[in-house]
Amino acid sequence: MGKKRVMVPVQEVDMSAVKYQQEDIQAPHLTGFVFKLFVWIIETPLIGPLIVSFLKKQNKFDELMQNTDIPEAPMFRPEFPPQEPEPGVVMLDEEGKPEERVELALKSLPQYDPASCWNGDSSPSFRYWKIRDYAYAYRSGHATPTTVAGHIISVIKEFSSKKPAQPLLISFDAEEVRKQAAASTRRFEEGCPLSILDGIFVAIKDDIDCYPHASKGATTWMHEVRSVRKDAVCVSRLRSCGVIFVGKANMHELGLGTTGNNPNYGTTRNPHAPERYTGGSSSGPAAIVASGICSAALGTDGGGSVRIPSSLCGVVGLKTTYGRTDMGGSLCGSGTVEIIGPIASSVEDVMLVYSAILGSSLADRISLKPGPPCVPNLSCDNSNTLGSMRLGKYTEWFNDVYSTDISEKCEDALNLLSKTHGCEMVEIVVPELEEMRSAHLVSIGSETQCSLNPDCEDGKGSRLTYDTRTSMALFRSFSAANYVAAQCLRRRIMYYHMEIFKKVDVIVTPTTGMTAPKIPSSALKDGETDMHVTGYLMRFILAANLLGLPAITVPVGYDKQGLPIGLQLIGRPWAEASILRLASAIEELFAESKKRPVSYFDVLNG
Ligand SMILES: *[C@@H]1O[C@H](CO)[C@@H](O)[C@H](O)[C@H]1NC(C)=O
Repeated sequence: MGKKRVMVPVQEVDMSAVKYQQEDIQAPHLTGFVFKLFVWIIETPLIGPLIVSFLKKQNKFDELMQNTDIPEAPMFRPEFPPQEPEPGVVMLDEEGKPEERVELALKSLPQYDPASCWNGDSSPSFRYWKIRDYAYAYRSGHATPTTVAGHIISVIKEFSSKKPAQPLLISFDAEEVRKQAAASTRRFEEGCPLSILDGIFVAIKDDIDCYPHASKGATTWMHEVRSVRKDAVCVSRLRSCGVIFVGKANMHELGLGTTGNNPNYGTTRNPHAPERYTGGSSSGPAAIVASGICSAALGTDGGGSVRIPSSLCGVVGLKTTYGRTDMGGSLCGSGTVEIIGPIASSVEDVMLVYSAILGSSLADRISLKPGPPCVPNLSCDNSNTLGSMRLGKYTEWFNDVYSTDISEKCEDALNLLSKTHGCEMVEIVVPELEEMRSAHLVSIGSETQCSLNPDCEDGKGSRLTYDTRTSMALFRSFSAANYVAAQCLRRRIMYYHMEIFKKVDVIVTPTTGMTAPKIPSSALKDGETDMHVTGYLMRFILAANLLGLPAITVPVGYDKQGLPIGLQLIGRPWAEASILRLASAIEELFAESKKRPVSYFDVLNG
């Protein structure tokens, strides 16, 4: 008796009575033999489900997802109210050619000044080569895609001989890269490059199809049951712009983890600190960009997988609005929380790649009614548009981080932004964060379970990593009623956010509650489970996934150990342009304080 919990209808919630609740995760940190034993037990009939059920109770799962009366109807995919057009933008045609969109995005950037970029030592701080630097180098005869390909191939080979294995790419074919580079070089010789992205090197996460590579999702078996015959939609859009694909980037198996730990192929190292994780699941995409080897990468983000590693590796990662990019040809095409998004070392490069890949699928155009895609016009005076932006901050949440370096650096960035551009900070409250976490877990878990079940039942389940098997044991325990409850919560939490967006334009948080965690040496061979680390890494991530909102992470400095810190900007539905504009302004404030990663390669000059 007395188990039932009743929620009042969302419109009647007294916001002044909402209290911030710290996350209280009860789960063991396991590696090595004990971890393997644990997985063996939770997969044992009868006993296994009992243990999973006990762990769920400890974490208040039943209270939230089983015993609560939720008055709202389910929302099975993000549903957005119509949005006002954004000011100061350049419209892009999602049905037009990617090359033409990229050309318009290019025209929306500030003037490119080769002198300031090529005369090197005027500024003592570190600076990544941008896409426009490569473009300039190719057009001025300073370099060719073929010379750059040569440098990249030797770096990748150097990586592949490291012990223990720590690959950036898990599918790589030097001949294939040379061929693409030769074709691009020829286009430059003939004076007809396809776009500003021609000859630009990009890595594709291993759960997105990039022909002729297999898509394994970092498993050891996915290619046995699923073959790749063509590029994913996003990849083919990049290819038509002349992009050169270096191969398939390493990741946390099936995207089901936030560290990037990978016992199958080896764990990618953080370019700023090789004894630390990159964050995940897009570990390879973030690391290959942060080490300067590729200008950009595509990742997928169902629970922070683009933003977490981008933040931990000190680069920019964009989670697009749900439905903004076409998921065709990816391993996660049927879920309700995942999207494909670009990672690059600067906001302008993210913007160029985003312009190429965007465009909803036909089905999503009908059901989601996307707002027209656009980018901020950064070539005109932005001060009015920036100055009128209101930024929402939930201070108690914002400050709930592992080390105060993170909240302080993020806070400093916002103060500087207000001082420089006049943006207004507004205190907000985001209720039901715990419910949001559980609703997201049940959604992504049930959807993953649904797509993997046929292969797991077919004997592939035991060929997954122990980490994935732990997740799958949890996902199997979710009921259909849990899934529906999660969707009812999605409607509630959407309401809260749409109310917040009446008062502010953007919600700001640290991207992660922790900088790059150390890799326990005992976790390299068989992986690990550490829900405390996961909790810190996902602390601010989930609204964008459960509600489909766009979000971007932009570097704002380093903690005391020199590890990168990211600030997250969460935008209104379809408002990628607004968060790109703001991210670009923040990036500019920190341009002079960038550190060169320990693992960095100048592949433009060799
Ligand atoms: C951006 O704004 C400037 C100044 O108003 C204008 O000249 C330019 O054409 C705009 N860019 C695009 C791509 O529309």
